[in-house]
Amino acid sequence: MTQPPDSAFAAEWAETLIHGRRTVLPKRLAEPGPDAAQLQRILGAAAAAPDHHDLVPWRFVLVPASARAALGEAFATSLHERDALATPGQVEEARTKAFRSPVLMLAIARTGGGDPEISAAERLVSAGCAIQNMLLLASALGFGTSLTSGKALRSQGLRALFGMQPEEEALCFVSIGTIAGAKRARVRPAVDRYVSELKP
Ligand SMILES: Cc1cc2nc3c(=O)[nH]c(=O)nc-3n(C[C@H](O)[C@H](O)[C@H](O)COP(=O)(O)O)c2cc1C
Repeated sequence: MTQPPDSAFAAEWAETLIHGRRTVLPKRLAEPGPDAAQLQRILGAAAAAPDHHDLVPWRFVLVPASARAALGEAFATSLHERDALATPGQVEEARTKAFRSPVLMLAIARTGGGDPEISAAERLVSAGCAIQNMLLLASALGFGTSLTSGKALRSQGLRALFGMQPEEEALCFVSIGTIAGAKRARVRPAVDRYVSELKP
């Protein structure tokens, strides 16, 4: 598509897609996940995000099955560091989170370095747009998606595992898979809660 869609039909499907997206938590995301071609399309959608000065101030690291155990270890270690009294059950629960969802990737933003004109805020907005593009395309392909965060994202172990540089920030995990459970119902905020008009 080289031109923006300009029809009532296009607006209707865009609204259906946007309002139809719902968080489906990783524990409710089952196989099959996107196949290789679908995953490339989903990842490619990130590239359409607005990006001031073309910095590409974000990256995504896929966590394949072979690397889930290492991620689980990082989650478990992070919990131990935060809470020396964590029970074996809690540690196991933390480790288990690494094994959920067919597609799991970490979203990382580069909030500093390089072009000093582009602030951390602008870079984070770009990262959010890239993530949302992927969520929407995955939804359009029929998959469930979710974003998950948590204190482990800031742990040294996780940062080392993902080869993160000092100017990088781990934003959240992105999960994609087949919807295996009820979607969480959520009342979206009314427009007047987040829109106002500047008074002259
Ligand atoms: C950066 C980010 C991190 C998130 N982390 C979590 C999380 O750790 N656990 C969770 O249940 N939801 C997480 N969410 C998802 C929100 O809870 C969810 O988007 C919100 O409840 C609205 O639901 P909806 O996406 O279905 O509209 C996160 C969302 C964002 C933007």
